[in-house]
Amino acid sequence: MSSGFLRVKTVGFEVRKIYMTRVKGEAEQSSICATLLKPGARQARHHLSDHELAWLAGSLFMAGYETSSNTLTWFMYLMILFPEIQTKAQEQVDQVVGRSRLPTFADAKHLPYIWAIIKEMLRWRPPAPIGMLHATLADDYYEGYFLPKNSIVIPNIWSINRDPEVYENRVEDFYPERHLSSEGKLKDTLDEGHFAFGFGHRSCVGRHVANNALFVDVVTILWAMKMKPVKDEHGKPIVPSIDEERSGGIILNPPKCQFTCTPRFEEVDMILQQARDDILKSTRYTQE
Ligand code: HEM
Repeated sequence: MSSGFLRVKTVGFEVRKIYMTRVKGEAEQSSICATLLKPGARQARHHLSDHELAWLAGSLFMAGYETSSNTLTWFMYLMILFPEIQTKAQEQVDQVVGRSRLPTFADAKHLPYIWAIIKEMLRWRPPAPIGMLHATLADDYYEGYFLPKNSIVIPNIWSINRDPEVYENRVEDFYPERHLSSEGKLKDTLDEGHFAFGFGHRSCVGRHVANNALFVDVVTILWAMKMKPVKDEHGKPIVPSIDEERSGGIILNPPKCQFTCTPRFEEVDMILQQARDDILKSTRYTQE
């Protein structure tokens, strides 16, 4: 039996396992897959074939998974690389949220520094640095260059996010304060402050999901735990240099690093357990 065949069988088994537990079984939760599989939903709401439904769920997963998880991986590394940014963010979370409850979306407008970190992560290390390929619909000119109809255009998001005319100074630095006014408020709440989601008609449709998911993940991690690099045998923190970042296809991953996460205060564990139980209870998907 070839290893390719085994791999397909294993993936098939895993997908089925997820389907049985998450969509139909014990750990069932509301999700786009569960909604699409509800009896009647297919014809009544979407008029899509099985094949199209599979691609609908699959393409959202592919577009949203690696982009968001890559940004979160950078976040963990950055909190170790810049402990002063971690402390400053935690001070703001303590002021706004306190320690007796979890952060919620209602806190979002009072936490500009957290948004500044998210914006700066997406500016400094956009998960898709060369975006998506596009094609011109008609003959065009750009800065004296002729682009015939159907030319493939690759947007250099990495470079656009470093335009010195827009970002002025320290374009190569991770500097969340660039998104804040001198009073510590977000300079512009409507503008992303970067081009990581692309632009134009085909810009990322998942940007609001992505921003909100990053917000709630980042703020909950900061609220709950202190992240510190592990130490070597002389007690010196081991923080890999940014030069050790790793390429994974078109995505850049942070350097491999080991760190410890410790609860910031005694009640963290209990509050998180309680929230987990509440969420599981309230999102349980009941079959019609
Ligand atoms: C940090 C997270 C994310 C980043 C940086 C990101 C970035 C992008 C980029 C650069 C594009 C191509 C835009 C273009 O063609 O110019 C794109 C397209 C797309 N994204 Fe995202 N994305 C993220 C998260 C998500 C999430 C969470 C979802 C879904 C829930 C999603 C769904 C999509 C879809 C469906 C498209 C194709 C849109 C189209 O072609 O019309 N993305 N994204």
